[in-house]
Amino acid sequence: MSFLIRGGRPLNGELTIQTSKNASLPIISASILTNEYVTLKKIPNITDTHNMLEIMKKLGVIVSKRGRTITLNSKNASGKQLDCELSKTMRSSLFLLGSTLSRFKQVMITMPGGCKIGKRPIDIHINAFKRLNVDVTYAGDYICFDAQNARANKIKLKLPSVGATENIIQFACKLKGKTTIINAAREPEVVDLANFLNLMGAKIIGAGSKKITIYGVNSLHGVSYTPAGDRIVAGTIMIAVAMCGGKVTIKNGVPHANKKLIEILSKLGCQIKIKNDIIKISKTTPLLPIGEISTGYYPDFPTDLQSFMLALASVTTGETKINENVFENRFLIVDELQKMGANIKKLNNNLVQVRGTQNLLGAEVDALDLRGGASLVLAGLAAQGQTKVNNVHFIDRGYEHLEVVLRKLGADIKRI
Ligand code: UD1
Repeated sequence: MSFLIRGGRPLNGELTIQTSKNASLPIISASILTNEYVTLKKIPNITDTHNMLEIMKKLGVIVSKRGRTITLNSKNASGKQLDCELSKTMRSSLFLLGSTLSRFKQVMITMPGGCKIGKRPIDIHINAFKRLNVDVTYAGDYICFDAQNARANKIKLKLPSVGATENIIQFACKLKGKTTIINAAREPEVVDLANFLNLMGAKIIGAGSKKITIYGVNSLHGVSYTPAGDRIVAGTIMIAVAMCGGKVTIKNGVPHANKKLIEILSKLGCQIKIKNDIIKISKTTPLLPIGEISTGYYPDFPTDLQSFMLALASVTTGETKINENVFENRFLIVDELQKMGANIKKLNNNLVQVRGTQNLLGAEVDALDLRGGASLVLAGLAAQGQTKVNNVHFIDRGYEHLEVVLRKLGADIKRI
């Protein structure tokens, strides 16, 4: 499937941002920690959540869905081997490790898949589990985890890995004693997961800071919960307005979680007003040069918005340097943007230089990963003429009907 876009139209109107993919996935996974009913509201209708729910069903969880409200009951859940096919296609299945290991004590997984952005090793997860006295062995393509002798401990992460932090939180919730994570990830999605688990009766203290303490409890109970808005989707829309011009009101826009982006866009000349969870953004005059941007761990600039900055820098004046500090090989879309006339030079694996051109030109381009794919859509919206973005299944992993959302704002985009 592809998106066909006729560029050059400003974006105007109002929208409500979907709930966060990266919060929904570990929250769905953590629902297996109770035998009681868990109701999750406003879960985004995207491929990644769909796949995660399919894995849950394979584990014997009863899943019922009414619109975006999902009810899970894990009373009869069982199983040690997470479904191979699904775990190969979605790295997020890794986020099932902490909860299923807590529940079943023994779990086997295949090396997880996901976006092709660099090596994405899982050594931090494995070392953290080992610190908790989990036995880790390898058998062919499988990694086997045995938690029968697990015990609480202090864990210092080599890097503040989001997934590893979330896995340990889920595993340690019902592990007797006190587990401490040092150098924990501080991303808002970690806080969302901890809020959800604390509502279920867990004792997690310090989520959102570098040190998280988890006091194990005997059991967790059922709850009803709505994850926060998706800061990356909100960021996508803000950058789209910066590139296309217009005036958009973004509800459920989680502005506190996008401070760095809002600061940058304001400096470039976008007008941004914030009231509670609503962001009003407009762009009426040409943007100033960006200068330099470096991605990093939260609260630094998110790597998930980096490819959008490549597209934005391509249509602003002056020179921009973009430094990718979280993943290797996350400049996959450079070649595609160049097909549209972008002037981008890779200085090394982690650094590119973008010289702003007055106009991008429509072209046929291929999405190669989730965020890079969505940024090609933004480039198409801002370009002169027609752009065809192929492989939109990558984009569907994380955006709920992106073309419908953009069309409501006045974009000329359709799915073919
Ligand atoms: C999560 C997000 C993803 C985001 C990323 C960084 C989800 C579903 N995905 O991914 O959208 O881009 O955080 O904000 O929430 N690393 C290791 N060893 C490990 C684990 C990670 O070296 O065992 C490295 C990675 O290669 C990467 C860095 O640590 O360079 C950060 O990765 P991590 O925070 O774990 O990302 P994910 O949790 O996979």
